[in-house]
Amino acid sequence: MLAPIKETAEWLLARTASRPTTAVVLGTGLGRLAEEIEVIDAFPYSEIPNFPVSTVEGHSGRLIFGRLGGKEVMAMEGRFHYYEGYTMKEVTFPMRVMYELGIKNLFVSNASGGMSPDFEIGDLMLITDHINLFPEHPLRGKNFPTGPRFPDMSEAYDREYLAMAREIAKEKGIRVVEGVYAGTQGPTFETPAEYKMFRILGGDAVGMSTVPEVIVANHCGIRCFGISIITDLGVEGKIVEVSHEEVQKAANAVQPLMADIFRELVNRIA
Ligand code: HPA
Repeated sequence: MLAPIKETAEWLLARTASRPTTAVVLGTGLGRLAEEIEVIDAFPYSEIPNFPVSTVEGHSGRLIFGRLGGKEVMAMEGRFHYYEGYTMKEVTFPMRVMYELGIKNLFVSNASGGMSPDFEIGDLMLITDHINLFPEHPLRGKNFPTGPRFPDMSEAYDREYLAMAREIAKEKGIRVVEGVYAGTQGPTFETPAEYKMFRILGGDAVGMSTVPEVIVANHCGIRCFGISIITDLGVEGKIVEVSHEEVQKAANAVQPLMADIFRELVNRIA
């Protein structure tokens, strides 16, 4: 596994002069931020050696190197989900490559179902912590030399970046909520009983991504920050039928606000 990671990193390093230290993963319907990136180089996933091959039509994805608010970033336009059939090693392969490329910060975004009774559709939730409910652990198997066999997870989401994001939201007058993201395999949305269970377990929002990526990034010493867009509610009495289209629509509406926070955070960090 190490050889393909290094090969992919070398392939990219030979094809772009850009050397960002921050990477952004753009989730479901969250591609708008990519439009704000002044592209230096972009590589379709299908052209990058060893990158997972997309299983979904029209879901190709690109790795972008460019400038966001003047600062260099690398962005994944589209991610690999476990429910698509990728192995955990494939889902988190880009994070391994990021480490080789010298990435120090990872910003993740996603859409999720809110379970906290305080949440509303369209809320931006700063992810303070997560619960790993995936059936397979991304670090299962021979340990990678980037981190210890039994990695600490006491601060999976960087507290300093969280504080900065709170400050930015306040300055810009953007309503943000905070909470624990429960990551589950999907692809079904939850039954009312499952939302209730995940709530009892300690989740404020539930979604189908992010957790494996953040675990592997932490194992690589990469500082993580995440925003989840609450696109529907898994709160007793407020549960209605959900569809992917509605999730995208709700995410779409507040994307610009999320982009504002990411842009300003990149600006303050880089
Ligand atoms: N559950 C799981 N994943 C999701 C949801 C949800 O309610 N909304 C958006 N992604």
